[in-house]
Amino acid sequence: MHIVRSIDEMQQWSANERNLGKTIGFVPTMGALHNGHSELFGRSVLEHDRTVVSIFVNALQFNNSADLEAYPRQLEKDIVIAEETNVDALFVPSHDEMYPPNFSSTISAGDIAAHMEGLHRPGHFDGVATVVVKLLNAVSPDAAYFGIKDFQQVAVIRQVVRDLNIACQIVSVPTVREADGLALSSRNVRLTSEDRQEAVQIYRLLRELATLSLETPTSSADIKKAFITRLESSSNGIVEYVEVVDSQNLRPTITATTDSTICVAVWFGDVRLIDNISIDSSPS
Ligand code: PAF
Repeated sequence: MHIVRSIDEMQQWSANERNLGKTIGFVPTMGALHNGHSELFGRSVLEHDRTVVSIFVNALQFNNSADLEAYPRQLEKDIVIAEETNVDALFVPSHDEMYPPNFSSTISAGDIAAHMEGLHRPGHFDGVATVVVKLLNAVSPDAAYFGIKDFQQVAVIRQVVRDLNIACQIVSVPTVREADGLALSSRNVRLTSEDRQEAVQIYRLLRELATLSLETPTSSADIKKAFITRLESSSNGIVEYVEVVDSQNLRPTITATTDSTICVAVWFGDVRLIDNISIDSSPS
């Protein structure tokens, strides 16, 4: 596996592979790799001749410096995981390589980024959009893979890629979960053992509410109320938001239907977890 640290070298590596007629799949990450990432790598490896993974903790998308500081970093371990999953090139640029002192242009993610994560983490999606476009320009992949756990992120990236005519297919991959249902996240390692056990309530409740909405038309207001009351009475979790949105355009909906997705953010101590469920795919 090639370890690439500069944008120039990354661009050259990709150009070379393209000249050899190879297709390139790309998985951008912030490291602290887990099985959810391996799933994305596996999809790319299956669908492309070459797979590139980037590891870059993007300061621009953290609206909270304590969160940036606490973000888990484990490059040596990540290199082993990437190697084991047959990644061909690992792009690990430094902060200065991506944002040199004279860096000044950023992308504004627009309306789709205005609520949910965007509302509670101001500037987050501008940071995500900016870094993803920079990474796509460095790697020039045919396709880039993202986990649907970050439901709004995928929608923002699709919008930006479409708006800026970037020739890259955006592929969303289902959330990988622990056996008890907790969505895999790099942040899970920071949960206390008690919070880790209680965090399973998030997906349990999402499933229950999605199943209920499939059986009986349920108002979004009732879903929000039920999620908050039940989560907070059965765990230490504090709900930051619950939104029922149209799965395509992410606009809030009045009633939960098979076209809706329930999205939540919950704090356990100083760890913020997000998750979502498409009502359509809710297990009965
Ligand atoms: O989902 C993530 O890990 C990050 O937001 C991403 C897409 C790698 C951009 O920094």
